[in-house]
Amino acid sequence: MRQAGRYLPEYNEVKKLHDFFTVCRTPELACEVTMQPIRRYSGLLDASIIFSDILVVPQAMGLEVQMLDKQGPHFPDPIRTAEKAMELANKEVDVKKELGYVYEAITLTRHTLAGQVPLIGFAGAPWTLLAYMVEGGGSRIFRFVKTFIYQNKKEALALLDRITTVCIDYLAQQVVAGAQLLQIFDSWAGELSQADFAVYSLPFLKRISQELPKKLEALGVEVVPLTVFAKGAWWALEELAESGYSVVGLDWTHDPQQARRRVAGKVTVQGNLDPNVLYGGKEVITKYVKDMMESFGAGDEGRKKYIVNLGHGITQWVDPEDMKHFLEEVHRFGKQMPE
Ligand code: CP3
Repeated sequence: MRQAGRYLPEYNEVKKLHDFFTVCRTPELACEVTMQPIRRYSGLLDASIIFSDILVVPQAMGLEVQMLDKQGPHFPDPIRTAEKAMELANKEVDVKKELGYVYEAITLTRHTLAGQVPLIGFAGAPWTLLAYMVEGGGSRIFRFVKTFIYQNKKEALALLDRITTVCIDYLAQQVVAGAQLLQIFDSWAGELSQADFAVYSLPFLKRISQELPKKLEALGVEVVPLTVFAKGAWWALEELAESGYSVVGLDWTHDPQQARRRVAGKVTVQGNLDPNVLYGGKEVITKYVKDMMESFGAGDEGRKKYIVNLGHGITQWVDPEDMKHFLEEVHRFGKQMPE
C-alpha cells in the first residue's frame, strides 16, 4: 500500500520544499522518498513500492490534476460529457514520453536499492481512474461517475478501454525500467454493484492480466507477477482469483480463513490489517498481527502463498514507532509459523 507518506517526518521535510507532483516528476526526489521507509525500517520491509500516484495516468492522457493540501486530488476540468469522453477515448497516448519521469525514477531507485529488496511498480485500475476523471476528485456517493456510466454506457466503455490500453503500456514500461512486480489498485471497485463490476471493472482488469505478459514477452523483459487489489469488492474474490493475477490483495473486511477457502490455493493472498489498528497502540497491534497471521496461516498452506500487508494505505497520523512495532511483530510471528 502506501509506504512513504505524511506519517514520516522525513517525507514531510521533502514536502515542505516541493509539491506532491513535483516529487513524483523528479526522479531524485521520488527515489529519495521511496528509500525513506526502506532506510528507517531497515531489514523489516521485504519490498519497496515506487513513489508516484495512480493519477499520473489521467495527467498523461491530458487532464490536469492537482494535489490539494488536506483535500486530496482535484481535477479542475473533469470529464462530464460524452463528447469529451470520446475525445479522450480516441486519443493515443505516448506513455513512453509522457511518463518517462516514472521510468527514470524506477531505474534510479533499482540502482539505489542495490538488491536490498525488490521494487514494485503500480497503476490504478481503469474503473478507479475513470471514477476520478469524472468525479474530479474523491467522493462519498459517486454521483457524477454513476450518472455518466448510466447515461453514456457506450462512451464509458470506450474510455475504459483506452485507459486500459494506456495502463498496459505504462505498466510494461515500468518493467523495462526495472519494476519487479506490478500492483493494480482498484480502490473504488466496491462502489459498484456486483453486476456493474462485471461490466465496468472486471473485463478491464482481465485485459491487463491477459495482454501485459504478452507485451512483456514482446519487449524481451521478464514476465513479472501481477497483484490485483479491488477494495470493497469482497463478493468478487472467486472471480479475482481466476482473473489471471498471481496475487489478490484483501482489505480488512475479509475473514482470512474464509478468504483462503474461497481462493482455494489458486493465488497468493495479501493483506489485510485495518490500517487504523495502528492507532491502537503496541499491545493492540501485537494482538491483531498475531490473530491475522494465525488466521491466514491456519489453512493447509501454512505460511505459503501469503504476503503480510495492511488492508489499505497507511494514514498520516500513525506514529512511525507503531509502524515499526507492527513490522517487528510480523517478523516475530512469522518465525514461529510452520513452514
Ligand atoms: O508508498 C509509496 O510511496 C507509494 C506511493 C503511492 C501514493 N499513492 C503516494 C501518495 C501509491 C501506491 C499511491 C496509490 C494511490 N493514489 C491510490 C491507490 C491506493 C489507495 O489508496 O486506494 C489512490 C486512490 C491514489 C489517489 C490519491 N493520491 C489520493 C486519494 C490521495 C489523497 C490521500 C490522502 O491521504 O489525503 C493521494 C495523495 C498521495 N499519494 C499521498 C501519497 C504519499 C499523500 C499526499 C501528500 O503528501 O500530500
